[in-house]
Amino acid sequence: MWPRLLPLFPERASTMAGRVDALYFFLLAVAAFFIVLIASLIVYFSFRYRRKTAGEVGRAVHSGWALEVMWTVVPLGLTLVMFVWGADVYFSMGSPPPETEDVYVVAKQWMFKFQHLTGQREIDELHVPVGKAVKLTMTSEDVIHDLYVPAFRIKADILPGRYTTIWFTATKVGTYHLFCAEYCGTKHSGMVGQVVVQEPAEYQAWLSGGTAEGGSLASAGEKLFQDLACVTCHRTDGQGRGPVLVGLYGRPVQLTNGTLVTADDAYVRESILNPAAKVVAGFQPIMPPFQGLVTEEQVLQLIEYVKSLKATAPSTGTIVPQDTKPVGPGPGGTPPARPPKGPIAKQPER
Ligand code: CUA
Repeated sequence: MWPRLLPLFPERASTMAGRVDALYFFLLAVAAFFIVLIASLIVYFSFRYRRKTAGEVGRAVHSGWALEVMWTVVPLGLTLVMFVWGADVYFSMGSPPPETEDVYVVAKQWMFKFQHLTGQREIDELHVPVGKAVKLTMTSEDVIHDLYVPAFRIKADILPGRYTTIWFTATKVGTYHLFCAEYCGTKHSGMVGQVVVQEPAEYQAWLSGGTAEGGSLASAGEKLFQDLACVTCHRTDGQGRGPVLVGLYGRPVQLTNGTLVTADDAYVRESILNPAAKVVAGFQPIMPPFQGLVTEEQVLQLIEYVKSLKATAPSTGTIVPQDTKPVGPGPGGTPPARPPKGPIAKQPER
């Protein structure tokens, strides 16, 4: 490990921190070496080859090919080392391990809103367990923000209208700074918070601390799925006007134009907000767009619900409750229910 030479450096509290620092110090060392080399040669040469008599004229110098090759090959090799090393770290940052603790982030002027799968929500504070990979799926309600945790050496833009992800494994229990690192308006500098890294048992206790309203994210999504009457068309028996959503998540989907897309977060989000963009083969573009009718947080709840619809274990009864009756008469009947006007309240009474 690198010694703590400078108090300027933040603590190293994630598995990525040492790797990022090693690369950074390598770049620093290479830059320092050439700065010293070039600066000393400038000073030395200006004395060694200074004009000694008034009428002295410089002599033309033709360098040898060996010198030319050296100053081409050495920098090329050095920059290639930087490229391969940097790419390796970059790809590691971009590829989370298969098992992660997932947390959703919705940023807005000027706060970070975090949603845990169990339903816990927090603002400008994120609780995570130590030693476990945590994946953040992030989007913005307004402008571009950027989540930055110096102690973890992670930083990623948060963009409106799209999901970006970042992951980390915290290695030390403690509280660490969290910053917005993209100028996002007058109170950008106040868009800060903290990451609280806890022992796994402590974290579990915090998770079950009773701050979750409306149950898990998936169950909140399930309720929304019924409140918005999605269930009318997306029936589980294959007789609905919309595609069956059971077992859909993560699978390839055939569209009317013949292309295949993977049903990931971005696809599900787009299909809720702007369903006509990608119509599933064999279906009509009759679904109304929900753009402006559901919040980013509600979209995330719906995505979690769709994710929870696993085809492998239909007998557990978690897919669609038995007492849920389709609102409309189904195929061939009246058109599908229209979404209610205006944003959906958090917990509408029906
Ligand atoms: Cu959000 Cu700067």
